[in-house]
Amino acid sequence: MKNAPTIGVFDSGFGGLTVLRALTERMPRARFVFVGDTARLPYGSKSRRTVARYAAESAQFLVREQGAQFLVIACNTASALALDAIKDAVSVPVLGVIEPGAQAARAASQTGDVLVMATDATVQSHAYAAACGAQGLRAMEKACPLLVPLVEEGWTEHAVTEEVVRIYVNEMRAEAQARGMDADTLVLGCTHYPLLRPVIERVLAEGAGRAMRVIDSAESTAEAAVRLFDGQGRTREGAVAQTEIRCFATDSVEKFERLGSKFLGRPVGKVDLLDLGG
Ligand code: DGL
Repeated sequence: MKNAPTIGVFDSGFGGLTVLRALTERMPRARFVFVGDTARLPYGSKSRRTVARYAAESAQFLVREQGAQFLVIACNTASALALDAIKDAVSVPVLGVIEPGAQAARAASQTGDVLVMATDATVQSHAYAAACGAQGLRAMEKACPLLVPLVEEGWTEHAVTEEVVRIYVNEMRAEAQARGMDADTLVLGCTHYPLLRPVIERVLAEGAGRAMRVIDSAESTAEAAVRLFDGQGRTREGAVAQTEIRCFATDSVEKFERLGSKFLGRPVGKVDLLDLGG
């Protein structure tokens, strides 16, 4: 198994399993090692310096101790605040979720105006505005800090969650309109939000506003990973017969096994406890 191509996937918690799910669907013969830094979640309310330190530690574990040849940063906050720090910390190619999300938005949008829902830290970094700007798009970012805890609570189909989503979406649309934007695309700029996609799409369909295309950055990142890594034939050489997934969590492995299966869409299997320090 030594030569099997190994892809390291990292998130602050469980949300990145939505990216892992999309990756395994597209690269069924690779080995994946996932780290969920659940002990230090949420990253979305922390400073750049702290997120960069945490993310670099996980990246080094994946490369040095697990032999990852390619890293996917399956966390919008870490991608927004720490992509350069992660690239400096390891010597393998690193892919974040922001760039692929912005590229998918460009492919989807006809008006050139897009909205982005994300954590506080991601919004404050304006990483999406910059990445979308580089694609010739105008982006407005909206911090939605209540959504991660609601997903973590398992309230993905719940009246409270739907009302919270409605408030965020209405505020976002009103603000976009006040800026003279004609947005037709919404980027889910947090790895927890794909689990809320049905609620978000229902709420978007309410009222008389323009129909919106929803971009899941997990899907676009997996497609970019295939182009970058699998495109070089690397998961064909020494490939495994079927997807292998090994998960590490820095806090309760029982909770990770329970919640993680929901994000991954199938049982995550045995999860190992990882101590990355404080
Ligand atoms: N994984 C984070 C993201 O995609 C959300 C959870 C957190 O705040 O750590 O932004």
